[in-house]
Amino acid sequence: MTKLNCLNPIAACGLDMLTADYVMTDTMAEADAVLVRSAVMHDMELPDHLLAIARAGAGVNNIPLEKCAEKGIVVFNTPGANANGVKELVIASMLLAARDITGGIHWCEENRGDADVAKSAEKAKKAFAGTEIKGKKLGIIGLGAIGVLVANAANRLGMDVYGCDPYLSVEHALNMSRDVTMVKTNDELYEMCDYITVHVPLLDSTKGMFNKDTFAKMKDGVVLLNFSRDTLVNEADIKVALESGKVGRYVVDFPNPNTVNLPNTTVTPHLGASTQESEDNCAKLAVREIRDFIENGNIKNSVNYPNCDAGICSTEGRITICHKNVPNMISRFTALFSKDGVNIETMLTKSRGDYAYTILDICSSSTDKVVKELKALSGVIRVRVIK
Ligand code: MLT
Repeated sequence: MTKLNCLNPIAACGLDMLTADYVMTDTMAEADAVLVRSAVMHDMELPDHLLAIARAGAGVNNIPLEKCAEKGIVVFNTPGANANGVKELVIASMLLAARDITGGIHWCEENRGDADVAKSAEKAKKAFAGTEIKGKKLGIIGLGAIGVLVANAANRLGMDVYGCDPYLSVEHALNMSRDVTMVKTNDELYEMCDYITVHVPLLDSTKGMFNKDTFAKMKDGVVLLNFSRDTLVNEADIKVALESGKVGRYVVDFPNPNTVNLPNTTVTPHLGASTQESEDNCAKLAVREIRDFIENGNIKNSVNYPNCDAGICSTEGRITICHKNVPNMISRFTALFSKDGVNIETMLTKSRGDYAYTILDICSSSTDKVVKELKALSGVIRVRVIK
């Protein structure tokens, strides 16, 4: 029986995918697996038997990835599952930044009592006029699932779209409109774009990537859209840039005491993925990932271990090993199996940074001895007998 702790409400259609082999627990100390949305896990005590955490969303800055990797806890996210929801809000926000639609709506609300409101509106409306996005240049930094959808949608709306992503995957490249112009550096985008939208994870290397130096390279009056994480932007620097008009408008989906007080800024309350469809997609993908890992030992969409998928085991036994990515691990594993007379039918091993993962399908189901010996090897973090 696998005990699952849901740290945030997760859409029911995802939880409905759990079989009778799973039971919910409210106690972290009991959990074998965790489902989380925005709960911050950095200071949480994680039990030694915890196997996996799945974030129903893309960003994983609320999870201590390195600490989890060291303990053999595999962390998953759900890339792409909420991409359409975020894309639609990015496009809506660009339109709201181009024209003072919200100002116009407020004006109508304020003039509810005016019997002559139709006539007054014709005079007042010039205050809310704007520009069109067709023909404007949009720069997209980060062409993952969300960035590519934004690129294609903006292209269809007649924008001139430029993208920059040194890590662009083949899958995302194939999904992207050929009309999108790829540039090599963010600086090229900064120089020419009227709108810039950022879709990169928050990492030490991306924190504060928008600062006084980058704003200086941008076109006067540029609109910056941030649906990734607030701290990608240096908020003291953008305040100065907004006050001077260097940045014409900042659209940010992350309210904090700074962003809600910035001038010429539109702040939304982290609504990017707040659609029924996105929540359902994320919940279903997170549960699928947890189940495949618990039941088959496969890793898909991990952010701290390599992806490693050996399908469903068709031999007598399967053992999985979380280990350090150091020399001689594999030869030491196979030496133990050979010494104990256990035939390895298939072996899949993948590494990612300092960590690696190995799946061994074997022709034996009596594995107690070899498992004990594997656990004793230096560099081995966790050994699981799947079957
Ligand atoms: C994400 O990280 O997927 C988005 O910010 C949405 C969310 O956190 O729910």
